[in-house]
Amino acid sequence: MQAATPDASGWIRLCELSELPETGARGFDLQGRGTDDMFIVRRGDLLRAYRNSCPHWPGASMPWRKHAYLDGKAEHIVCHGHGARFRLENGLCVLGPCQGRLLEAVLLRIEEGRYVSALV
Ligand code: FES
Repeated sequence: MQAATPDASGWIRLCELSELPETGARGFDLQGRGTDDMFIVRRGDLLRAYRNSCPHWPGASMPWRKHAYLDGKAEHIVCHGHGARFRLENGLCVLGPCQGRLLEAVLLRIEEGRYVSALV
């Protein structure tokens, strides 16, 4: 993916809402480094974004392959490093070595009813 550029306020347009799975996750490599900087999780009306950095090992990339941020039932975010599980809605670690700690949330907004942008 080509490196993206935020506007003067720090917002960057990521994709169209229709490009996100109804239930699932999508990673974004904003700097074109070959590793996601952030990811979005979606489940029905729930839409959240977090930095791809595990609180157990800050800076550690979480998925085992591109976009693989969720468990099999899409109930939790999972870090492949040591299996930590996080709530979709707030990024709280509920199981694993960083239990009680939070993923760093990224602010999202929907523009024109269809474009998903993040404050980076
Ligand atoms: S690096 Fe994520 S659980 Fe250890």
